[in-house]
Amino acid sequence: MQVALDWLEKNHEGIVRGLADLVAIQSISTDGEHTTEIERTAKLTCDQMRQAGLLNVDSLKVGSSLPYAYGEWCEAPGKPTLFLYAHHDVQPVNFVEQWKSDPWKLTRRDGRLYGRGSADDKAAISAFLGAVAAYRQTTNQLPCNVKMVVEGEEEIGSKNLMKFFDVYRDKIKSDAIVVLDTENIEVGLPCITYSLRGIVTVSVEVTSATIPVHSGMAGGAVPDSALALNAVLAKLCWGNGKIPVPGLYDKVRPLTEKEKIAVRKLPWDDTKFRKELGMVSSAKYTMEEGLGVYEQTWRRPAVTVIAQEASSIKGASNQVLPKASAIVSCRIVPDQQPEEVVKQLEAYLTADAPWGVQVSVKQLGSHCNWWMTDPNGPAFEAALGALRVGFDRDPVAIGCGGSIGFVGPLSELFDGAPALLLGIEDPASNAHAPNESLHEGDFKKLMNSLVRLFDNIGKLPGGKVK
Ligand code: BES
Ligand code: MN
Repeated sequence: MQVALDWLEKNHEGIVRGLADLVAIQSISTDGEHTTEIERTAKLTCDQMRQAGLLNVDSLKVGSSLPYAYGEWCEAPGKPTLFLYAHHDVQPVNFVEQWKSDPWKLTRRDGRLYGRGSADDKAAISAFLGAVAAYRQTTNQLPCNVKMVVEGEEEIGSKNLMKFFDVYRDKIKSDAIVVLDTENIEVGLPCITYSLRGIVTVSVEVTSATIPVHSGMAGGAVPDSALALNAVLAKLCWGNGKIPVPGLYDKVRPLTEKEKIAVRKLPWDDTKFRKELGMVSSAKYTMEEGLGVYEQTWRRPAVTVIAQEASSIKGASNQVLPKASAIVSCRIVPDQQPEEVVKQLEAYLTADAPWGVQVSVKQLGSHCNWWMTDPNGPAFEAALGALRVGFDRDPVAIGCGGSIGFVGPLSELFDGAPALLLGIEDPASNAHAPNESLHEGDFKKLMNSLVRLFDNIGKLPGGKVK
């Protein structure tokens, strides 16, 4: 293993160049206009997989999906197989003027590497391949088997991923899953995520008339749909209590005493958090009384109005608007049921419409479920041990307020395979936002830990990961 670790040290600049090549391609999946670029990142990922030493490398598709990059090394019979997941598509670049360097040119500044996708999630490709190459370019052999899938449509909800898993079920079958798409809550602190929130999304449409009318003629008489919509949405406002949707918390699983103690022991810097999120100084937190940010965002539901439309500010005129709509998302937590949450939202938002306007609430797309696991057992021990040495710090188990829908179903498909979600981002990474970046020191430590993880997994007695 030491030769592999030495290889990582010596070849770090080359690994960063590989990441820069990935970042240089504008593989944006959210606008449907960068299919060529996504084809190119899939191809480049395949090339980098071959170069690192993976075998049977191929760009795969299911139905009309964007391309997946696939590669494996399965020459260690009897050893466990790790399924490695990353994604090669990225979020768009908006608020361009706020970027301090070209988003498509990986730029080193203050110990960080800046660029769109530098952290989320192209760094994951480079990290996995760095660890693979460290072995294959030195000892030639990996200590365990690996099967690596790099998706091209994660940022648009992984809509073909389940089909992909189904079609390639036998090919990808593994004993444990490693996902690099979550965060470490502090630079230098290795974190394993053991719970994810899910998400359901609904549209809220208010109709008061069939046509817009002059507000001088009808204002004060005909219901204003924009105002009515906002009155409907305002019913969701929770102050510092629970979201007032009846039944919403009935199935929410409380934290165990042990979990509460663990969460409260985690490092927390309030000033830094507010600053990193750019909160204005007068703004207060919206947590429930008695809860901290971690508990609130990891294990409590949250509603967010992610879009609202009535008429555009540009070209506004004196009209009573007949239609207004919004999109509301609701993050869900263990043990809420997505279908039930949609029904609860619908019942609450459509009841007692202001001025009797029509309110319609409909689910948009499909839901993504929450996930939670018990972070114990041989695979977790292997990961904790690897991170402890790789980061020279005791790792912690954390939750995550974001959603990664496939973790639960994939683990089930692999007969309850343990899923190891290791941090690649940190609170300053600005994923999905301007000046996205990767902490280079932690990136090195992560690759070092992956080399150790492969080794630890290979040494598990009887090849048993659970
Ligand atoms: N990497 C994120 C998940 C995440 C969010 C990790 C916050 C750590 C902190 C993931 O790529 C993501 O953005 N997921 C979407 C899922 C949606 C498209 C169903 C999300 O959470 O909004
Ligand atoms: Mn993402």
